[in-house]
Amino acid sequence: MTAPHSPPASAAPRVNPLQRLWLRELGMERLWLRPAPQPQAAPAAMPQVPVPKQESPAAPPQVAVSKQESPAPAVPARDAAAPPAASAVRLAGPGPGLRNGPPPKPAPKAEVVTDAAPAVIPVAEAVKNATLDELREQVVACTACGLCGGRRHAVFGHGGQPTRWLVVGEAPGEQEDRQGQPFVGRSGQLLDSMLSAVGMSRERDVFIANVIKCRPPGNRNPKPEEIAACSPYLMRQIALLKPERILVLGRFAAQTLLGTDATIGSLRGRVHQMKTEEGREIPVIVSYHPAYLLRSPAEKARAWQDLKLASRQL
Ligand code: URA
Repeated sequence: MTAPHSPPASAAPRVNPLQRLWLRELGMERLWLRPAPQPQAAPAAMPQVPVPKQESPAAPPQVAVSKQESPAPAVPARDAAAPPAASAVRLAGPGPGLRNGPPPKPAPKAEVVTDAAPAVIPVAEAVKNATLDELREQVVACTACGLCGGRRHAVFGHGGQPTRWLVVGEAPGEQEDRQGQPFVGRSGQLLDSMLSAVGMSRERDVFIANVIKCRPPGNRNPKPEEIAACSPYLMRQIALLKPERILVLGRFAAQTLLGTDATIGSLRGRVHQMKTEEGREIPVIVSYHPAYLLRSPAEKARAWQDLKLASRQL
């Protein structure tokens, strides 16, 4: 075991706010700034993950290079509000999705790489060239927001390909979190019967995904920063699956995909168009979330109208 290289107590280095953010992101803030007192109850401003002890300190704006020892205990940071710009996935070395990304800064010669170090990559950058399988791996390993601290499983999505319909819900609930599959609870049963009423099936021609891939604690509403952190995954799923159309269930999914804060009531009943990054237009139909329909069965008639609209030749 090698002791971390900390600056002597009398020579705690000065860091600017950007360097401090990086140190915190790398889990080295306490090590590097020791003995500067850290308030015990100070909330983490960035997502926390098990942080390996460092053999030699990396300069703050640089990806960590370290030999890993026993990881420090994970600090659940479920409510940490990382700003969207700081949303990141940690990958063991540059993942395949980064093949065409910007070249990493070269490490100083003296720092010998002894192990693959966790690189901190913005989600939007990491997903850019990912295949569906690579994207799934990124989602499963994602720590871009605090929700990873409380999940059993990240829920990537499931369905048939080629994808005729992409159904987009909000976020995993308890059953989805347990099983790692989308819409497997009561809402899922209702969704399956709604789909089968128009001759569609999740095993054959429907892919089901959510805006948020990890369960918010107690099924609370996703926070804007969680939606911002997670939505690049959904956008990449859309680009890869190339669905013929998208059925959006509930307010969060509709507002995220259509970039609006309009209500469901005002969005449903017509066909929207979503422009993909490649410039393709995909018809989007908005309907009620099945969980809402379970609470308000009288609205099922409207949901049925929405399904018929989605099934029409557009
Ligand atoms: N509700 C959702 O929005 N998604 C699921 O996967 C389950 C319930």
